[in-house]
Amino acid sequence: MKGIILAGGKGTRLYPLTIAMSKQLLPVYDKPMVYYPLSMLMLAGIREVLIISTPDALPAFRELLKDGSHWGMKFEYKEQAEPRGLADAFLVGREFIGDSPVCLILGDNIFYGEGMISLLQKCASLTEGAFIFGYRVTDPERYGIVEFDADENVISIEEKPESPKSNFAVPGIYFYDNQVVQLAEKVKPSARGEIEITDLNKLYLERGQLKVRVFGRGVAWLDAGTHDSLLQAAMFIEAIQNRQGLMISCPEEIAYRMSFINKAQLQKLGEALRGNSYGDYLLEIVEKEK
Ligand code: DAU
Repeated sequence: MKGIILAGGKGTRLYPLTIAMSKQLLPVYDKPMVYYPLSMLMLAGIREVLIISTPDALPAFRELLKDGSHWGMKFEYKEQAEPRGLADAFLVGREFIGDSPVCLILGDNIFYGEGMISLLQKCASLTEGAFIFGYRVTDPERYGIVEFDADENVISIEEKPESPKSNFAVPGIYFYDNQVVQLAEKVKPSARGEIEITDLNKLYLERGQLKVRVFGRGVAWLDAGTHDSLLQAAMFIEAIQNRQGLMISCPEEIAYRMSFINKAQLQKLGEALRGNSYGDYLLEIVEKEK
């Protein structure tokens, strides 16, 4: 399976922070925001990733993430000139996807919690249909919302409904088979002028090929799209990391633990960042495992 990180958009809700800087490169405590979704793809075992962003922001993503080989990954980059909708990621990414299944993750979505890794790895073995998630929220009118029957089958899925039929929002991580490119072509722009991921998911639902799994209470899903939620996300990461002494979504550590790189490569990455807590953390892993 291949991965796509959608990291474009104007980030107007974060102005003036995002006038000169891409939202998905803003810090969330000690890392650029994009490290968090990227880490989810890496934990799923996905090593080929396309990063989609605006023409203005893409050079900074390239500077930060390079070609990925230092993390045992392969990164490609593609421009999305206008925010035409989340489903547009599959049209922009058509050549990259080729004949592979694909996981799309939004560049401002942060996930953390027990059981995530095995679940992600299971999803990454998908070859048919679509797999998405549900997450209980208190403000369902802001999201794509999924409704279940008593047996937990999906009955409906709606984008930002005025009268939500449930409290289960669809978070920004989606797994699809290779039909996704063809199906995305069929999606017509919505009233807000975007080709909606929810309409794409409806096409899978109509075909009886949409599976939804609800994340339990032990999973945190944060988005960092407003001033308050950005600060809350940073405080959440800081609290857990400093309590445990373990980093959340550190791509270098994940690359090592997933055996994408070896200890000597991790040491080199740590040495390049030596002298701050991030680099020292990497060198500590090397030291401890001698
Ligand atoms: O966060 C999950 C929600 O994301 C889902 O529950 C909704 O079904 C889905 O439509 C989406 O809702 P939003 O309206 O909140 O998405 P937004 O337009 O804010 O875009 C999400 C991120 O993707 C944002 O950081 C900008 C980026 N983006 C968005 C669009 C439309 C792009 O890079 N390109 C785009 O064309």
